[in-house]
Amino acid sequence: MLPVVVVHGGAGHVPRTRAEQSLSGVCSAARGGYAVLRGGGSSMDAVVEAVRILENDPHFNAGCGSVLNVRGDVEMDAIVMDGRTLSSGAVSAVRNIANPVQLARLVMDKTSHACLTAGGAQQFARSLGVPEVPQESLITEYSRMRWKKNLAPDANPVECQMGKMGTVGAVAVDREGNVACATSTGGMLNKMEGRVGDTPCIGSGGYADNQSGAVSTTGVGEAIMKVTLARLILFHMEQGQSVEAASDLGLAHMKSRVGGLGGVVTVDPQGRWAARFNSLQMAWAAGQNGTLHYGLYAGEDFTQSMDPDQDPDQGHGPPPAGVRH
Ligand code: GLY
Repeated sequence: MLPVVVVHGGAGHVPRTRAEQSLSGVCSAARGGYAVLRGGGSSMDAVVEAVRILENDPHFNAGCGSVLNVRGDVEMDAIVMDGRTLSSGAVSAVRNIANPVQLARLVMDKTSHACLTAGGAQQFARSLGVPEVPQESLITEYSRMRWKKNLAPDANPVECQMGKMGTVGAVAVDREGNVACATSTGGMLNKMEGRVGDTPCIGSGGYADNQSGAVSTTGVGEAIMKVTLARLILFHMEQGQSVEAASDLGLAHMKSRVGGLGGVVTVDPQGRWAARFNSLQMAWAAGQNGTLHYGLYAGEDFTQSMDPDQDPDQGHGPPPAGVRH
């Protein structure tokens, strides 16, 4: 069962034209995270690597490709949490950083704090020599187009709803049975300047505890925070629920109690895993026992071998390339 890594590319509605790229992106991230684990790396190393890959992929709402706030700027949030020690690190409302997940890890490793925000996080990055990147390098044509479209008074409500989602994240268990989570996001399309969502908040955007498991969440941040979704799911696991049942109970509670939609990836310390969502879609992928699992719509679980001798691109993209379970 061990090791295992599970990643998501955000719950919501993936337009048909971007579905293949989303699946390809989550599969690459799961492969990257799994390679770290297979090489003997820790679950923390694996989730940071998987999320770094997703941040660098312009098809996701994190790092390059982040949605824009109401002023047309990129402000990003990220968190990491280590299930061995319950140590965590987070950044919120950071600008000009290519990989906020790596900065979140530095907050965990190099400070006694849990979260640094905005200018303070920027200053911390500078003090460690983390390079600043021009904002333009984080903005895609697609994110600018959606920003303009959603500013319009006749904005399409489906587009608006999409804009509330798209966070990326990962959970993993390494050979030693240590769990970890990482989550990163550009937040909500057209959010107010300075708005901080669920992602950098412990227990909302993610949680990891070797005594129960790890969760990374995606969805409408304001709803996720109201129910502390990640911690709620681990509570259900502590009460004896499986990773699937606990994830579904958490998501169902968020929907019935506050009307929130979203998705999660969840592991327990034994390596059992789940990718669950109550939105229309969530691109996800998992690596375990040399096999890559992936899906986009509810009920999908396609597989392909991660044997390095095989074409690494084989099966990425439309589901028929894999085997459905
Ligand atoms: N879940 C991401 C956000 O609302 O910021």
